[in-house]
Amino acid sequence: MKMIYQQLLAFFLVIAVTILLLGISFGRMSKSFVYNDEWRSLEKYSDSLVQQSLTVNTKSSQQVTFSLSTLKTAQALLENQSVHFTVFNQKNRVIYPNNGLSPKVTKNDWRHLTKDQIVRKVNNRNFKLSNGKTRPAMIEILKPYYYNKKLVAVVSAGVFVSDVNSNVDRINRDLLKGLGVSLIISMIISFFIASRLNRRISRLRAAATQVSNGNYDIRVKSGGNDEIGELITDFNHMTESLEKANQEIQRQEERRQEFLADAAHEMRTPLTTISGILEGIKYDVIPQEQRGKSIDLMSNETQRLIRLVNENLDYEKIRSNSIRLEKRHFNATKVLSSIVEQLGSKASESKDRFEIQAPDDLPIYADYDRFVQIVFNITNNAIQFTDSGTITLIGERGYNETIIRIKDTGIGMTKEQQKNIFERYYKADASRRARKYGESGLGLAIVHQLVQQHGGKISVTSKPHKGTTFTVIIPDQTDAEKKAAENNKRKSSERTDV
Ligand SMILES: Nc1ncnc2c1ncn2[C@@H]1O[C@H](COP(=O)(O)OP(=O)(O)OP(=O)(O)O)[C@@H](O)[C@H]1O
Ligand SMILES: [Mg+2]
Repeated sequence: MKMIYQQLLAFFLVIAVTILLLGISFGRMSKSFVYNDEWRSLEKYSDSLVQQSLTVNTKSSQQVTFSLSTLKTAQALLENQSVHFTVFNQKNRVIYPNNGLSPKVTKNDWRHLTKDQIVRKVNNRNFKLSNGKTRPAMIEILKPYYYNKKLVAVVSAGVFVSDVNSNVDRINRDLLKGLGVSLIISMIISFFIASRLNRRISRLRAAATQVSNGNYDIRVKSGGNDEIGELITDFNHMTESLEKANQEIQRQEERRQEFLADAAHEMRTPLTTISGILEGIKYDVIPQEQRGKSIDLMSNETQRLIRLVNENLDYEKIRSNSIRLEKRHFNATKVLSSIVEQLGSKASESKDRFEIQAPDDLPIYADYDRFVQIVFNITNNAIQFTDSGTITLIGERGYNETIIRIKDTGIGMTKEQQKNIFERYYKADASRRARKYGESGLGLAIVHQLVQQHGGKISVTSKPHKGTTFTVIIPDQTDAEKKAAENNKRKSSERTDV
């Protein structure tokens, strides 16, 4: 059964039972109220009857007499109001009326009367009168009257129950109508309450379906401070957390893909070098005196490849985005020369000439492999975009920093193109894509990130058809780094002492 019908049924049952109980107790109350009222008025009638018709006779031994004519008039008047009365003397004999229609006073009632107690009663059953007729049920009172502490008369006054009950029935009918109307109104109200509750639950259900379909940015309007409202608030918290978790998963996936792309990009270079040297050996085109050098280069590149694989493909590092730099002091000029050597054959293919302008010893504090990556990528670009030109690698010391410039006389770039070159996958224009080497548009993005990791700066100046200069500034070791390095040294020496 649908929830709304269950709720309506429950509401209906509660309301119906309440109304039934209320109806019964109100019915009883109205009956007793009407009866009490009736008894009171009967007493008043009887009092005024006695007042008007009774005379006290001080001389006679009988003491009291009733005026029959007054009683007759009173009877006519009261019968108009459906009130019937009988007057008894102190010996329980009927004084008036003498038509045989009078009720009998029972012994029990008479006992009460002699104690000056008023008897109120309802003769619910029809009963036989002294003349053999049947008298309908009545509501009546028996009231004693005393004179000089002596019982002188008893008046019985009554109305037919059917007359009184018609009043009670009318009240009950009105009551029933009222209860019926309130039942309808409360059913309408409960229908609205139930359907509001249902609407909110349906909204929640629709949202849950959306969530199960992977849409986490959904929020449900609470619309109340009740339990459903609390459930909606909890649901919204849940979708919020799910959305955050999902975003984190997506971010990590993007990061993972970036790292894989970067790693592939960087592995291509040493692999190309190694493959080139192996080809040279295979076809015996490397002169005897160059062979040792070539094998050293191959071995260096293999080591670099191993380090690259170890570091870049560590999933935990990718996940937490924490690639640690292994910084140390070394001679930057040596790196420049080795790159020139490595890219020599590629440069000569483009008929480019290399030049190095740097002191023999140019100290730098950096991660060796990352520094090679930086210079290699920029120089590689210079060869790519320069035909029959000169590529100059300049190294110099700045204030607490080492400055490397890679200058070419190639095709250059417009200001507009220079703006975006550090973006991932950016290539200055489509025509360059056809060139032999520039392929993925990742190189400078990687360089930019590596320079930033070193706390350094990279900038570019370029003019179309004139050439391009990239400037990389790597800061020297900071005091904090010095301290940390000393601490590390001390700790490792302590360990060896032990
Ligand atoms: N020295 C340069 N002279 C002219 N244009 C350059 C130079 N260096 C880079 N560019 C421009 O910047 C773009 C981005 O360079 P980047 O090294 O990031 O990518 P790529 O060389 O195209 O591809 P790869 O990922 O293989 O390095 C290049 O496509 C090129 O248009
Ligand atoms: Mg490149």
